[in-house]
Amino acid sequence: MHAADTSPAPAGITPAAAPPEGVPARFGRLIGVSLGPGDPGLITRRGWAALHSGARWAYPVKKAEESSYALDIARRAGLAIPADAVELVFPMTRDAVALAKAWARAAAQTVQLLAEGRDLAFLVEGDASTYSTFRHLARAVRELVPELAVDTIPGVSSFAAAAAVADLALAEEDETMAVIPAAYGVDVIDQLLDEFDTLVLMKVKPLVDEILDLLERRGLTATSCFVEKVGAPEERVVHDLARLRGEKVNYLSLLLVQNPKRARGELRRGCRKRAEQNTTTSATTAPARAGMGA
Ligand SMILES: C[S@@+](CC[C@H](N)C(=O)[O-])C[C@H]1O[C@@H](n2cnc3c(N)ncnc32)[C@H](O)[C@@H]1O
Repeated sequence: MHAADTSPAPAGITPAAAPPEGVPARFGRLIGVSLGPGDPGLITRRGWAALHSGARWAYPVKKAEESSYALDIARRAGLAIPADAVELVFPMTRDAVALAKAWARAAAQTVQLLAEGRDLAFLVEGDASTYSTFRHLARAVRELVPELAVDTIPGVSSFAAAAAVADLALAEEDETMAVIPAAYGVDVIDQLLDEFDTLVLMKVKPLVDEILDLLERRGLTATSCFVEKVGAPEERVVHDLARLRGEKVNYLSLLLVQNPKRARGELRRGCRKRAEQNTTTSATTAPARAGMGA
């Protein structure tokens, strides 16, 4: 069963039909369908069309028969979940043996589905190329079937949507930004604050209190913002970071940190014409960053 929408397939997405009798099976395409971080309105037209292309849906879960955040986005978009949609289990564990087993199983399952000749649309939360299971899955499947066609449909990342709801820019003019998993720890974050104007700290859940200590120590709480489940009905945007102390936050949360005090290096070469650069230098080298206070 497919959802009722009959939008035409966009360029690059064509419904795959099962091979006629007697014709050898070909592999379907593996399509990474980025759905954005939670608001169904952020599903791109290409993503939307892929969901309606006749491709079989696959979606990631952490445990068998558990809910899938990616699938929920499609559901909240008003789509009927096809009866033949399949879950692929990717456990959140550091147990290397269990992980390897789960990945081997998911890759084999994917190959088996693609061998039916039908495209497989793998639903991805956020953007499929940003800390996503999809690229890893594509690699694992290509190890088994090197000629496999993979199509990645890009999407809105969690931090782009977070910046929008927090009402701030990730980077302006010549500013620098870095996106890192917070798991590198506060010492690394501390160093990076001197290197980048904006830090996007992903996967902050286990380290919130430690990071708050650091931001307080460096006087950066007023220019930082916590965003949880952006775009979902439970979305939370917290400017007053002290409120988070001791709180258990959701895995789908991140911190945007701006360091307006950072000493910048000199720009060697820019896109602007030299004359224009000279006249605008004083206005643009140190743009005043408004605080992010609520
Ligand atoms: C495995 S990564 C997935 C990233 C995702 N592919 C993207 O494009 O943003 C999971 C981390 O992304 C961030 N994240 C993903 N979705 C989010 C959301 N809806 N709201 C806030 N943070 C989110 C969190 O830091 C979370 O720990």
